[in-house]
Order: sequence, then structure tokens, then C-alpha cells
Amino acid sequence: MRKVEVISVNLGRRSYSIYIGEKLSQVGKIVKELGLGKKVLVITDSKVFHYYGETIKKGLEKEDYRVYIVKVPVGERHKSINQAIKLYEKCANCKLERDSVILALGGGVINDLAGFVAATYLRGINFIAVPTTLLAQVDASIGGKVGVDLPQAKNLVGSFYQPRAVLIDTKALKTLPLREIKTGLSEIVKYGIIRDKNLFEYLEKNLEKIRKLETDVLQTIIVESVRIKAKIVSQDEREERGKREILNFGHTIGHSIEAAEGYEGYRHGEAISIGMLKATEIAVAMHFCGSELLLRLQKLLKRMGLPTRIKKMDERKIYRSLFLDKKKKGGKLRFILPRELGDVFICESIPFHLIKKVLQ
Ligand code: GLY
Repeated sequence: MRKVEVISVNLGRRSYSIYIGEKLSQVGKIVKELGLGKKVLVITDSKVFHYYGETIKKGLEKEDYRVYIVKVPVGERHKSINQAIKLYEKCANCKLERDSVILALGGGVINDLAGFVAATYLRGINFIAVPTTLLAQVDASIGGKVGVDLPQAKNLVGSFYQPRAVLIDTKALKTLPLREIKTGLSEIVKYGIIRDKNLFEYLEKNLEKIRKLETDVLQTIIVESVRIKAKIVSQDEREERGKREILNFGHTIGHSIEAAEGYEGYRHGEAISIGMLKATEIAVAMHFCGSELLLRLQKLLKRMGLPTRIKKMDERKIYRSLFLDKKKKGGKLRFILPRELGDVFICESIPFHLIKKVLQ
């Protein structure tokens, strides 16, 4: 068995470790090492609980923790303020205290919702993330973005609230549907483009092994992705210094595609796959990078079984949500564009006709 790797997010007193490896059963030891209180509320969904709930429960009870479990129904629509209220009631019924722990066991929805409850209950209690999807392992669980959706848009209410630890177990991916693996891979490709040529090349060379979910290869791509995100978050926790924003490569158009479909047509990583290609098309058209990069990216995403073009949908809906994004960011549409493999920059001066052209 490969050894567990530990990566730090360095944020002074709010620093924390991310453990990557086959570690789920040792959850109790990790919580104990942090010296946290003796009550743990595990927030999960019934699907994930079925696979990993008992392991987590036993792991905590072995170290004398009092464990409470609450299951949230599966799906993005439960990342809501109403669901958060139900969870606050559960926290109150369990008499959680300031030193108690909320542990999120699941994918991105569970992470964001449980993290939001941890950030706000008693003005903030300890939060531990145990992400079980590839996407949540390399993205949502790291960096402290927590929150809930409103009917108007996703993630409108939330906070930056860092976990005390993140536990990533590659074994959890064995039960994940293929489509969920692919959606995670899309974000890993993103890390390659924005920061790490070697990671991109590693993905190109090892795709067969990734498809077979070979533990060693999965651990490598997760470790490298987490390393990149942890470094960026350590430099720009609240997305104020122009560093964390590069994580949004492919997301300007990607988010608009997701929104145009009412978040039901595309999985996040699928929309980002198209968004990354569209951003690269723009960069090629504006001579910031060569067309070889576009072809290489297209080839890798295709081999991964990710979409590379927008299926027939109402273009006006995509424009409308792009404009909403524009309003949010103070009047300008901001894109992250590649210069070469491993290097991107923020660009605000893209002619609208060009955006329109790549979307057609
Ligand atoms: N998912 C982008 C970020 O965490 O900043």
C-alpha cells in the first residue's frame, strides 16, 4: 500500500493538513491528534453512508468519540438554506458545543452545506472534510469555500471557512460512477493547464490506468492537484490577490453553460471541459497561445470521454448568464486564458464578437 501523503494549507493559525491515501478507518486518530471535542456530527447522504458510514463511525468510536449521523437527500437542490436550518436543529438536538466537530462525508454538495453549517452554528465550530468524489477531493474540500444556493443562483450565500483537516481516501473512488470520475478528471486537467505541464503530460500517458482506477496513479493525480490548489489558497485565501482566480480557468463559459441548462444537463466537469476549450479557442484567436495547445487539450478531453462542444441549446441563455457574471465582477467579463501549458493569465479585454463566435 502506498504511504499516506500529507499536504499543508498554510494560513497561519488556520493552517491545516490534507491527508491523501487509504486512511478512512484512521479518522478517529486524526481527530484525536487535533485535540477536538468529543462530539462529532457526521453529515452525509444515504448513498455515501451506505458505503462508508460504518467505517467512519467505528473509526471515531474506537477513539471514544460520541458520533451522531444525519443524512441529507442526494442532489444539488438540497444545498439550500432550508436544509441548513434542519441541520442547525440537529446540531441543537445533539447539544453540539464550540469544541464539537461537524464532519462532511460526501461530495461537493455535502462539503459546502456541512461546511456552511459548521461556519455559522455557534459562530463557527470545528469542520472536517472527508470528500468521497474525485471532484470534491481535488476541489471543493480544499480552500474553505462553503455555502448554499438560492433560487436565483448557486453559492449566493456562504463564507470562507477552512476545515481543521481534510481526509482523502482514494478507495472511495472505487464505488463512484464513471461519469463522476470524468467530471473530476476535468478539474485535474485544469490544474495541468494553469500550473503544471508535467501533470498534463502524466494524464496523457496514464489515461488507461486512470480508467482502471489504479490506486497508485489516482493517488498521484490527486496529490499533484491538491498540491497546486493548497499552494494557491495559501497565497490568496479570499480570492483577492488575483491568484485564486486562476482556478476559474474554463469556468466563465462553463458556469454559463451549466446555468443555461438549469444545472441539470451537464455535470460541472463536463461544462468546464467545454469552457476550457472555449477559453483556449479565444486565446488562440487573440494570438496569446498557439493552436497546438488547443488540439492537445481537445484530444485529451475527448479521450477522457468529456464533451468538447456544446450540444444544441439556446445560445441566448448562455449569453444571459454570461452577462449576469459580468455584473457580478464590476462590469467586465473576466476570462482566464492560457499562454502555454502550465501558464495562464487573467484577461478582461476580449471582444464580445469573439466570445459569440466561439460559442456558435
Ligand atoms: N473552486 C474554485 C476555488 O475554490 O476557488
